[in-house]
Amino acid sequence: MAKSKPEPEQKHITPGRVAFMDGRGELPMLEVITEWSTAGIYLHGAHVTHFKKKDEAPLLFLSQCSRFGQGEPIRGGIPIIFPLFGPREGLPQHGFARLKTWELKEFAPAPDGSVTVRFCLPDCPEASAFPPFTAEYIVTVNASLTLQLVVTNTSREETFNFENCLHTYLEVGDIVGVSISGLKGVSYLDKVSNFAQKVQTEDAIRIASEVDRIYLNTPGAVEVLDSRLGRKIRVEKHGSVSTVVWNPWVGKAQQMPDFGNEEYQRMLCVESGNVTSNLIRLPPGETSTLKVKLSSERQ
Ligand code: BG6
Repeated sequence: MAKSKPEPEQKHITPGRVAFMDGRGELPMLEVITEWSTAGIYLHGAHVTHFKKKDEAPLLFLSQCSRFGQGEPIRGGIPIIFPLFGPREGLPQHGFARLKTWELKEFAPAPDGSVTVRFCLPDCPEASAFPPFTAEYIVTVNASLTLQLVVTNTSREETFNFENCLHTYLEVGDIVGVSISGLKGVSYLDKVSNFAQKVQTEDAIRIASEVDRIYLNTPGAVEVLDSRLGRKIRVEKHGSVSTVVWNPWVGKAQQMPDFGNEEYQRMLCVESGNVTSNLIRLPPGETSTLKVKLSSERQ
């Protein structure tokens, strides 16, 4: 009897993959692998610590001196700043969301090879100072990295006033070879000059000293051109009208115990959110979404 004709070989589809592991400090983390990229996300803070496209340098900076422990923020990656930005008496700087272990709700590889992971901020005593709310964080990994912080005011009568910010630490080849565009004409609070209000007049920002600026009323994308790495990073955002640009430079780097003295040369924070006078006033029953997409291309 003639052998039956072999079935044509099935086309090999590589869907996205998610692996669970112990990260640093034995904190649980997820490693996401797609055909374009890898990413690392800790449940602690729902903190994305790593994103790297194949054949490219990591997109996110992570300090070699970062702490990885309960109750301590991770230095680098993308801390979630919520529900407050900056210091407040008696409360943790930048809010409590980055200090909590978020619940993993779901991870879903899509047919196109993307992977989406969804987290939820658990109930915690600190939240009781605010009207009742829920906070979800959705991370989508493919050739780019997309982050969504979704906050719902579940109260019946109280407005929920809060600040949010995705405090993105970008990895750069050498900070002095970086230029940042997209903020020309925008007013900012200069934290290095005692919160003086200034206007960005130059086409591009270059960094040669400590920079700590809160750009206000600016919904536009920002681009970071990195001449040393030959790369352009694009930070696109929706539901955000503040952009914070931060580099601690020499003096502040030396004061931060969880940051290397020289590491300011390899990082730049471009943070997208709604802070200070741009804070969100969310009416009862309403939802607010902060969405940031990070992508890169060679130059
Ligand atoms: C930035 C602030 O967003 O975060 C800076 O504008 C601050 O003033 C920086 O130094 C880092 O904050 P932290 O709490 O992570 O050390």
